[in-house]
Amino acid sequence: MKNTDIPLQLESVKLSEDKNSVVIIDQTLLPNRLEYINLYTPEQIYEAIYSLKVRGAPAIGICAAYGMYVSAKKLDMSSYEDFYKEFMRIKVFINSCRPTAVNLSAALNRMEKAVTDNKNLCMPDVIALLEKECAAVHEEDILMCKAISGYGLSLVSGGDGILTHCNAGPLATSKYGTGLGTLFLGHELGYRFKVFCGETRPLLQGARITVFELERAGIDTTLICDNMASAVMKNGFINACFTGCDRVAANGDTANKIGTSGIAVLAKYYNIPFYVFCPSTTVDFDCKTGDDIEIEFRNPSEIKIKFFKEPVAPETVKCYNPAFDVTDNSLITAIITEKGICEPPFYDSLAKLLK
Ligand code: MRU
Repeated sequence: MKNTDIPLQLESVKLSEDKNSVVIIDQTLLPNRLEYINLYTPEQIYEAIYSLKVRGAPAIGICAAYGMYVSAKKLDMSSYEDFYKEFMRIKVFINSCRPTAVNLSAALNRMEKAVTDNKNLCMPDVIALLEKECAAVHEEDILMCKAISGYGLSLVSGGDGILTHCNAGPLATSKYGTGLGTLFLGHELGYRFKVFCGETRPLLQGARITVFELERAGIDTTLICDNMASAVMKNGFINACFTGCDRVAANGDTANKIGTSGIAVLAKYYNIPFYVFCPSTTVDFDCKTGDDIEIEFRNPSEIKIKFFKEPVAPETVKCYNPAFDVTDNSLITAIITEKGICEPPFYDSLAKLLK
């Protein structure tokens, strides 16, 4: 499939026209195939998020919110108590599929609140409120990404070399993206960035998705292996590092795709600013530090087999496969949110801007 054959504006998640399913792009097939799939049941929603068909912290939150709505619509219960019990069973089930991105539980909690705040309404009215709430989760993310992109622009100059890790673009969110939004916006304004994308082992979201998104927007894009980050920094190709994130603790420690913290360490060494982009929904004041963030561990087959024609390691080898790591706040130059830019000390700046 040629990149130019695909419509420019892609929606990673939406509600189907008949409102009975969640429609997602199967991101595991990118960049070779663009396929949409419909998710009708909680089990299908769980599986799609777990297997990264839909991925990226904001996008999984939006998918889960729509998933709660389509699942709740099908509950044939007249009493509030029965409805709530089953609603909560589904909520807990979907919430258990990926632990690190706080956007998942934040979106599900909003859906729950729409139910508990309206105990006295009849079921069809509660369902109508759930539809409004999931649409609001989606709409608000679009606005947040747009605002983040604007703030990010104040940190860069035309011609800058930018290093990205994983994917924090439109497909990881609702539209625009967080980490990549500034690059799209700047490109439209003639900034002529030179973007270096880490492939992001083991699942290659950088190579498969970030490169796909940047190239089709016409941005100068170069793919590197993750272990080349130091070389591009040392050679003077990089003016700033841009990453998204899955959860930010109250002190600014930040969980993002495995490998992010290594890039931050290198950036500090080479005196290159390291910027983290996120909507305020990714900041979790209940986590005091990064030690409180649960890190997802995934199947060793992702290291040994997935995305390769043949196994790339002996079948018998043990693997250590954390999906995320935590970047210490001391390595972060700024956290860019839709409400503004937070600088160290983050414990104060995050609370002041977002609490
Ligand atoms: O495992 P993934 O692909 O969901 O990991 C995604 C990331 O680490 C992103 O950087 C993060 O979710 C932010 S997306 C705007």
